[in-house]
Amino acid sequence: MTISDDLLDIYVGRATGGYGLASVNQLQHALQAATLSEKAGDPPSLIVAALLHDVGHMIHDLGENPASAGIDDRHEDAGAEWLAAWFPPAVVEPVRLHVAAKRYLCAVEPSYFGTLSRDSIRSLALQGGPMSTDEVAGFDRLEWAEGATKLRRYDEAAKDPAARTRSFEYFLRYVGTCRGQALVAAAIRP
Ligand SMILES: [Fe+2]
Ligand SMILES: [Fe+2]
Repeated sequence: MTISDDLLDIYVGRATGGYGLASVNQLQHALQAATLSEKAGDPPSLIVAALLHDVGHMIHDLGENPASAGIDDRHEDAGAEWLAAWFPPAVVEPVRLHVAAKRYLCAVEPSYFGTLSRDSIRSLALQGGPMSTDEVAGFDRLEWAEGATKLRRYDEAAKDPAARTRSFEYFLRYVGTCRGQALVAAAIRP
C-alpha cells in the first residue's frame, strides 16, 4: 500500500460525508482548497498541505461533525502526526497550524471574523477563540506562519457548492513531488 493508495482510499473512498455545516463534502472541500493554492502559484508542498489539511477529521471515529456536539477533535494535530510519516515539514507544519492561523487571523484582522462560516465560528469557540497579544507575537515568529495563514484563507474559501475542480487523482502529482523531495532529503542527511 503506497501513500497514494492510502489517500485515494480515504478521500475518494470515504470522504463523501458532509463538511460540518457547509454544503460541500470533505473531498470537495479538499479539492477546492488545493485548487485555490495551485491558482495562487504556491509550491507543491503548500498545494499538498491544502489538499490534505483536514485528513485528521477522517482518521478519527468521532463522526462527521464533532464540533456540533461541543467536541474539539484536535484534527490539526492528528492530521499533522499522520502526515509526518510521509511528508516533509513544509507539508506537515502548515497543516498543524491551520487552526492556530484561524485564531491568529481573527485577532489581527477584525474583518476576517466576518468572513467565517457558521461551522468555523462554532469551532473557533472550542479552539480557544481569537489569539491573545502574546499568542499573536509567538505565531508571528513561527517558520511556517505564512504558509499556515495562506492555507487558512483557502480553507475558508473552499466551501462553495458551485465550484469546479480537477480530480483528486490530478492532485496526486504534487504528492509524488513532495514525497520525492522528502526521500532525496533523507538520503543526503548526514
Ligand atoms: Fe481544519
Ligand atoms: Fe478545512
